[in-house]
Amino acid sequence: MLKAMDGCILVIFGAYSDLTKRKLLPALYNLQKSGKLSNNFAVVCAGRRNKSWEEYIKDMKAAAGNHVENMDETVWIELRERIYYSKLDFNDKTGYRKLNSTCGRIDKMHNTKGNRIFYMASSASFFESITDNLKRNNMIDNKNTWQRVVIEKPFGKDKETAKGLNNKLRRYFKEKDIYRIDHYLAKEMIQNILVLRFANILFEPVWCNTYIDNVQIISAEVDGVGNRAGYYDSSGALRDMIQNHILQLLALITMEKPGIMDSAGIRKEKTRILKSIKKFKEDKSNIIVLGQYGPGYTGAKYVKGYKEEQGVPSNSRTETLAALKLEIENERWEGVPFYILTGKRLSQKTTCVIVNFKEASASLFKGNCNELENNAIIISIQPKEGVIYRFNGRKAGSENSILPVNMDYCHNCTYEKNSPESYERLLEDAAKGNSSLFTGWEEVESSWELVDSIIEFNRRNCILPFIYESGSKGLKEVEKLTAQDNRIWYGWENCNKNT
Ligand SMILES: NC(=O)c1ccc[n+]([C@@H]2O[C@H](COP(=O)([O-])OP(=O)(O)OC[C@H]3O[C@@H](n4cnc5c(N)ncnc54)[C@H](OP(=O)(O)O)[C@@H]3O)[C@@H](O)[C@H]2O)c1
Repeated sequence: MLKAMDGCILVIFGAYSDLTKRKLLPALYNLQKSGKLSNNFAVVCAGRRNKSWEEYIKDMKAAAGNHVENMDETVWIELRERIYYSKLDFNDKTGYRKLNSTCGRIDKMHNTKGNRIFYMASSASFFESITDNLKRNNMIDNKNTWQRVVIEKPFGKDKETAKGLNNKLRRYFKEKDIYRIDHYLAKEMIQNILVLRFANILFEPVWCNTYIDNVQIISAEVDGVGNRAGYYDSSGALRDMIQNHILQLLALITMEKPGIMDSAGIRKEKTRILKSIKKFKEDKSNIIVLGQYGPGYTGAKYVKGYKEEQGVPSNSRTETLAALKLEIENERWEGVPFYILTGKRLSQKTTCVIVNFKEASASLFKGNCNELENNAIIISIQPKEGVIYRFNGRKAGSENSILPVNMDYCHNCTYEKNSPESYERLLEDAAKGNSSLFTGWEEVESSWELVDSIIEFNRRNCILPFIYESGSKGLKEVEKLTAQDNRIWYGWENCNKNT
């Protein structure tokens, strides 16, 4: 069997980071379990703590064990044999010499051929110093080998800082070797969007403003800010969710068909559509609503408000919810509003896209005792994965009654056992050199141009977050956004419903 992860060392900068414990090691465990790690693959975890290999492995077993299903001892033992701990203070120039010689030794033991994936699982403030030191120690650009760098979100805080970071990375890495993670792109149903659109003759002909009335993208979370207040309070929902995940989702829903279905072709079309989203220039305060969670109940559990969370200033004005209306300035989408909603501490965890079609001609069914409902396609991304097509049908046994009915395709019911988690897929792809599920620089830049315009718009119009109760099932303030256009939100409470 061809192993997905072969012939390289994954060097993780941030041995004890939350990301390593919650995502990377559990993903590596699952890849080990499914037989996807070859003998010629090793992991070096670099961190500043004074730990022996035994201590590090013990700590990671405990941490990763909380994030995998029933850890199998045999699989863990197989995995730990390829994990190495390297003590390194990211700012200590001399430490990289030791890291380099550790990697060289592992190359010989595991036949990893000098190839590296440098994974930045640490604060962005270290990226420059880490890459400078890698270069200084000849760890990048070795002949006949490859080196790739994986960068987590956030990629900058605005367009200027993103550009600065990109320029620094480009000094040493080619664009093709920079892997900017947006883990949403590796979700099964997000990958399915292009298949749904372009592999079915049914949908593409009606995928335009002649037939579509509006599109809604909803991403609701039950969780609050957790232990990430330090990062989140200077970011907020617009930078944390909309600049990356939501705009990527919108791009996949609205982009034109690429000439070739490869990473370059898809990136080109995504960039084109991102550039054509109308910037927030005019001062109309009715196209955006910001919110911040107050105390409340998620299920039966009482939870604190955002301002009471550890590490959040008591006068914080950071938005934990954003709802807005976007417009795309091109022929296909002119006049179609895109309603976006993302928020923390809501009643349900869900991500879904609702494509609402225009009214059908109802004149033939005038005597019908029910109102005809508009057709809709609902793409559920998480936790439910699938597609619902809502159409009108005749009520069984009735003379003249028409009812909306759902055709429900449940993706995770069919593929549950084989469907890999996002980080497994992303690590595999980085090792294989497949960047199609990572974001290109031009996409990042175009997304920041839009989000910068929204943030500036909020500042000019003094738009401040209203306080909503944690665990809310619906919010009047958000409903107003669609109500003023005589439309209604689908609602996060509906996204996970089975029919
Ligand atoms: N966590 C997530 O869910 C998540 C989600 C999306 C994106 N990200 C991104 O992933 C990256 C990591 O985030 P995180 O939340 O996992 O960070 P984190 O938990 O705060 O971890 C940062 C790590 O950096 C280490 N560190 C700090 N200063 C150091 C130094 N001078 N030398 C060596 N190590 C040093 C810390 O070591 P000690 O442990 O010894 O203090 C810590 O383990 C960030 O870029 C973040 O934006 C994270």
